[in-house]
Amino acid sequence: MEENQVIAMPRIGDKAPEFKAVTTQGEINFPADYKGSWVILFSHPADFTPVCTSEFMTFASMEQKFNEANCKLVGLSVDGLYSHIAWLRTIKEKIEYKGMKNVEVKFPLIEDITMEVAKKYGMIQPGESNTKAVRAVFFIDPKGIIRTIIYYPLSLGRNFEELFRVLIALQTADEFGIATPADWQPGDDVIVPPAGSCGTAKDRMEGKADDMKCYDWFFCTKKLDKDTVLKKILKK
Ligand code: BEZ
Repeated sequence: MEENQVIAMPRIGDKAPEFKAVTTQGEINFPADYKGSWVILFSHPADFTPVCTSEFMTFASMEQKFNEANCKLVGLSVDGLYSHIAWLRTIKEKIEYKGMKNVEVKFPLIEDITMEVAKKYGMIQPGESNTKAVRAVFFIDPKGIIRTIIYYPLSLGRNFEELFRVLIALQTADEFGIATPADWQPGDDVIVPPAGSCGTAKDRMEGKADDMKCYDWFFCTKKLDKDTVLKKILKK
């Protein structure tokens, strides 16, 4: 790919670009096959590389937790199917890392030798590599809309607890009509929509909205307990 070639990259709020692909779990038709579920579509630079191996072991070990939050995982790299299969077999049979062993990667891993999907999703970033996908993470909602995009460079392994936090925060915002402040975790106070009229702003500043704590008229929080959040979001 030429260094200054312009690539249309999907943005937050866009419909997830469609594709059909071969994966380690059979063919998929994306995002149609995932309608009704959240899905995290993520890329990694290459099979048989150490950072990616640590990431796959971590993500696969947490897969059930993501599934319980109605979220499926789909990986991708610019490698062929047989490389994917061989790498995932090696991970399961040979690699023990940070207490994780015998890890089976059950979610689909897309073969994308042609880079067709990687290019559609802006995963090839020539300043970083012309041949390897960067570590991209797309959070796609049950209607097929992209809700969050995070990119990491080749050298930086992702924090999967943060990816889980993002998923829960997105669902919490949807379910409860709130926003989540910096470093929010379930159980922390949430942000209520800003006052939409002078009267509401006055009431809030005079303490009349007694379920809220207001730091100023435009910045009010309320309690949302952890059980209420998790009961709504997690399916066991
Ligand atoms: C890795 O996963 O270890 C890796 C992949 C590409 C470049 C650098 C590191």
